[in-house]
Amino acid sequence: MPTVLITGANRGLGLEFTKQYAMEGWQIFACCRNPSTAKDLAAIKGKISTHRLDMLDDSQIRQLSQELSGQAIDVLINNAGVGEFADRLGNIETTKWLSLLHVNMIAPVHMIENFLPHLERGQRKLVVNMTSRMGSIEDNHTGGYYLYRSSKAGLNMVMKSIAIELKPRNIAVILLHPGWVKTAMGGQNAPLSPTESIQHLRQVIGKVTIHDTGRFFNYDGQTIPW
Ligand SMILES: NC(=O)c1ccc[n+]([C@@H]2O[C@H](COP(=O)([O-])OP(=O)(O)OC[C@H]3O[C@@H](n4cnc5c(N)ncnc54)[C@H](OP(=O)(O)O)[C@@H]3O)[C@@H](O)[C@H]2O)c1
Repeated sequence: MPTVLITGANRGLGLEFTKQYAMEGWQIFACCRNPSTAKDLAAIKGKISTHRLDMLDDSQIRQLSQELSGQAIDVLINNAGVGEFADRLGNIETTKWLSLLHVNMIAPVHMIENFLPHLERGQRKLVVNMTSRMGSIEDNHTGGYYLYRSSKAGLNMVMKSIAIELKPRNIAVILLHPGWVKTAMGGQNAPLSPTESIQHLRQVIGKVTIHDTGRFFNYDGQTIPW
């Protein structure tokens, strides 16, 4: 059975990825900031190990890659993310922006740097990044949301570059928009449940080959413009 490492696995879409892959029998390295308080994660039955990982702490990323050294990872899911939807011109906070860029754009790159040996040992050799349609420049018709949009547009750009760099090593890197989903981030007005979103995303992930590397997919498999 394949192995998958998931960041932000304690709630929201990361928790749902963990549930669904556990039901399929995958071996899961479920990462979150505080495993001791992650009760919903602990309740999932299956081949799951939980690991402490704060995306803001480069040394924790390094330590985890060493802890799992020798282990094959088929799919790395950079899921952990922070939303910010209250920023307006006139109240932009630099510290908050830098922290958002760190979690949403920079840490996923460090994850790839540190887990390349594990991915090379895997069969699937796939990196999945949870981005957002809000990171699409072409699809930006409402403006605003400077912090979140820039963090996901930046994620899209760095992952496109990494996709090009890793293609000769047969490692695919993709960007997925999960839809607007009912989670703490998406809010209760979102049309999709986590169950529906992740069912769709698993289908997309299941079909991806190296020929798709560098692509930006909607949850329904359609391509989203950059
Ligand atoms: N929901 C949507 O409609 C939607 C739409 C487009 C894209 N997305 C993207 O999908 C991904 C998952 O979103 P979600 O809706 O599941 O959000 P969520 O319910 O707010 O969950 C966010 C997850 O990220 C983790 N996280 C945040 N900062 C972290 C850090 N420094 N280190 C480690 N983990 C951290 C959280 O852990 P804690 O519990 O420790 O905070 C939590 O597990 C995100 O990348 C998001 O941008 C979501």
